[in-house]
Formats: sequence, structure tokens, C-alpha cells
Amino acid sequence: MANKKVKVGIVGLGRQGYQHAENLALRVPNCELIAVCSVVEKEVKEVQEKWGIPYGYADYDEMLENRELEAIFIASPSGFHYEQIEKALEAGFHVFSEKPLGLYLEEAEKVEKAVSRHPDKVFMLGFMRRYDRSYADAKRMIDSGEIGEPVLIRCYGLDPAGKLDSFLKFARDNYSGGLFLDMAIHDLDLARWYLQAEPEEVWAIGGSYARPEFAELGDAETGAAMVRFSGNRIGIFVAGRNCAHGYHIETEIIGTNGTLRIGTVPERNQVMIFNETGAVKKCTGGFLERFEQSYLSEAEEFINCILENRKPSVNVRDGVESTRLGYACKKSFETGKLVRVKS
Ligand SMILES: NC(=O)c1ccc[n+]([C@@H]2O[C@H](COP(=O)([O-])OP(=O)(O)OC[C@H]3O[C@@H](n4cnc5c(N)ncnc54)[C@H](O)[C@@H]3O)[C@@H](O)[C@H]2O)c1
Repeated sequence: MANKKVKVGIVGLGRQGYQHAENLALRVPNCELIAVCSVVEKEVKEVQEKWGIPYGYADYDEMLENRELEAIFIASPSGFHYEQIEKALEAGFHVFSEKPLGLYLEEAEKVEKAVSRHPDKVFMLGFMRRYDRSYADAKRMIDSGEIGEPVLIRCYGLDPAGKLDSFLKFARDNYSGGLFLDMAIHDLDLARWYLQAEPEEVWAIGGSYARPEFAELGDAETGAAMVRFSGNRIGIFVAGRNCAHGYHIETEIIGTNGTLRIGTVPERNQVMIFNETGAVKKCTGGFLERFEQSYLSEAEEFINCILENRKPSVNVRDGVESTRLGYACKKSFETGKLVRVKS
């Protein structure tokens, strides 16, 4: 058992999938990446040659016929997730899927049913922030009572302005599900995790300021949601696509006896330059840089769960409930009304 390696196949080799594939091929112990799949054949060939991956596929269903495989990693665009998760589970594989479970709540609920039909399989969702050292440390501090009762969470999830064009493309292709479902979903999950409470009602507003095209597509470039959680806990979520200084992920949890802040200055590293502009620290440029460690840690956890026959703490219900809240935010933003979150 100690030397057993789990044989994994991955679908999607884009921004996120390439990073996962590199971790699975080179860095995750007890894992052997033996198959890669993408509709772009050039991506498949490049990765196969680079890391010596024996099997390459342009067709996902064909990859699932490979009986050497034990687990499937899904990093395709969000609209394919629910179907690909369902198919992989039905074909007898353990499954890791990038967030979200699907583009619609109904899809997320279908995934939950599929996961419950296969209790012997490990299913894990890519809420990687839970595996980030700082976020995990904050969780330990909250659970041990260091800030008393957590009563308010304030989150900033801001993408760098330099990527505005690619987000416009995402919005245009209906690739993402919109600002709240795509960008704020990690924060919505963290809020449930830290507050140990479920959302009851939400009011969300937003607009398109630097790039009016987002509004033409029915999406927001910058938005904010205020959520009342059970026990009268408070959530304030700011999401945006136009952050001039880089990728800014910040979380504050206020308790009855103290406050925690994570990532208040989204600094790249310990270096500070003193020059004519002042004392300057560079900021992180994107998610791959900020969450490099978390992507590796979550992949290790998935493989260890398979080997040790246990389930990860982040489960399919977390995916469904964060999607439900993401949709309630979207509905409130679209209608301008306070929305009750029904489970
Ligand atoms: N957890 C995070 O921090 C995080 C960050 C970014 C993206 N994501 C998620 O990862 C997923 C992928 O996002 P991305 O930015 O890497 O997208 P991307 O467009 O860069 O890459 C998508 C990949 O999937 C392939 N693909 C598309 N349709 C396919 C199909 N039908 N079958 C097989 N392959 C197909 C593409 O060729 C490409 O290789 C999304 O669901 C996104 O929400 C998560």
C-alpha cells in the first residue's frame, strides 16, 4: 500500500488544468498522471511530450474507457462539469472537479445525487482556499475560540484589471455563470465554513464602470452582496474584475472577542522597494501565483483520501450550497430585490 500510486487522467489543459496536470505529473506523491484530455489536440501532445504521459485523448468519453485509470481530475470549462462528473462516477472512477459543480443549481443538485449513488468513490470539489495555509490556520483559530463567536465575514475577491479582456470573453461565451457564481463562490464557501451558518437572505448590487460591455451582457464588472446568515450572522462580499494593483483576495472575520484578517495587503513576497514613489510592495498577479500551494495541497489530499479510503472535508453539499447562494446573489443583482435563499 505504501508504494501504491493512483493512476489519474485529467480533462482540460487550460489555465487551471495545466497547473493541476503539472502537479499531478511531477509533484504529488503516490500519483501517476497517465492520461490527459482536451479538445485542443496541440495541448494534449505538448503535455504528453513534456511529462511523458502515455495516453492522450481529444474525446472525454474515450478517456473514460481506459480501464488502467482509477481517478479523473476535471478542469474543463464550468458548463461541462456536471456531465463529466456524472459520467466519471458512473464509469467507476474517483473524481476531483474544479468549482463550480455546474452552471445551474439543477446541475449541482444532479451531481449531488450522482455522488450519493457512489458512496464507495471519493468525490472532491476544488475549493482550494480551504487548503491554503493562512485560511486553514484562521479556521483552526476560529474553531479553538480565539476570536470568540464569529459574527461577521467581509470578503474581497478582485481579479486583475489586466485580465479584463479575457473575462469579457468568458462572459460573452456564457462560460462562467456570471460574477457572483464564478468569482465570489470561493468566498461564499468560506463564509459557510467559518461562520458555520447557512445563508437566509441576500441583497446584491453591481455595475460596469471601466468596461460597459459587462452590463450589455447582463453581468457586472464589480459587485457587492450583503447576506444574512442563520443566527443573524453577517456576510459582506465584494467581487470585481478590475483591480488595478493585481489579484486581491482578502478576508476578515470579526468575532465577539477579536478579529482575523487574511491577505489584507496581497503582497507577492517579502520584498519592499523604497524609491521616488515611496515604499512599495509588489502584489500578486493572479490565482495561480497566490494559491500555488493550495492547488498542490488539495491534489495531495484527493490522492491520500483514495489511498486511505476516507472522504475529504470539502464535499458535494458545500458545492451545492455555495451554488445556491451564488444564484441568489445573481437573482438579487438582476432583479434589484432582496432574495430569500431556500434550501
Ligand atoms: N479554483 C480556482 O481557483 C480556479 C481558477 C480558475 C479556473 N477555475 C475553474 O477551472 C475550470 C477551467 O478554467 P480555465 O480558466 O482553466 O479554462 P480554460 O478555458 O483556460 O481551459 C479549459 C480547458 O478545457 C478544454 N476543453 C474545453 N471543452 C472541453 C471538452 N468538452 N472536453 C475536453 N476538454 C475541453 C480546453 O481545450 C482547455 O484545455 C473552470 O471551471 C473554472 O471555474 C478554478
